[in-house]
Amino acid sequence: MKLIAGNWKMNGAGADLAEVAALRASLDETPAACRVAICPPATLIQRMAAAQTGGPVEIGAQDCRAEASGAYTGDISASMLVDAGATLVILGHSERRQGYGETDLLVSAKAEAALAAGLSPIVCVGETLAQREAGDAVEVVRKQVVNSLPLALAGQAFAVAYEPVWAIGTGLTPTLEQIEEVHRAVRAAMIERLGLAVAAVPILYGGSVKPDNARDILAVPEVGGALVGGASLKAKDFLGIIRAA
Ligand code: G3P
Repeated sequence: MKLIAGNWKMNGAGADLAEVAALRASLDETPAACRVAICPPATLIQRMAAAQTGGPVEIGAQDCRAEASGAYTGDISASMLVDAGATLVILGHSERRQGYGETDLLVSAKAEAALAAGLSPIVCVGETLAQREAGDAVEVVRKQVVNSLPLALAGQAFAVAYEPVWAIGTGLTPTLEQIEEVHRAVRAAMIERLGLAVAAVPILYGGSVKPDNARDILAVPEVGGALVGGASLKAKDFLGIIRAA
């Protein structure tokens, strides 16, 4: 079953959650043929998780600290996210790799911590435009996958999201052939790292997924779902993508 996950990023201040309520009402009426998740800012996790209890929408976080507790001002541990009601966590998003210098090694440590706390990680990888133009996309992504996935993930529930950095928030997307090429490389790298147990782990595509391109992208071999930014903020758009799955 495909996974359609919304990444709200730093949006939703003052949210009355009416959009999420509308999403749930629609999914209650016509159940989705896929898993649906929303990853709001940390401040909204508790409220949203409480409102979604027993419902079809899983609630996730956008990052966590690798350490379990300690003197890390401003940070949040994986077990704190579980306390708040999260079941998933996005890790290694390019906005964190670029903005906070997060390395594959750190992402791997975070994934291990998330798993230990009972969260299912969504580990993000993706090449920059310069890397794509230099013909290095597949090799860059392969290395990110091998180095960002801790061995502890073998046999566990998790996902990998392929998000080309140049496709995020730009309206640009790779061709369907390019998406397939990288997704096949991600699968091979996962198997190289963790063995055949990962044959069914979903590989999500992320980067300018909209209701009007979702159907084609989700039909690409090895695309196991989508990680959606801007189009996850409005129930109508997000539902368009969910219905395409
Ligand atoms: O994590 C999702 C994201 O980076 C893609 O954003 O706005 O291009 O769908 P967007």
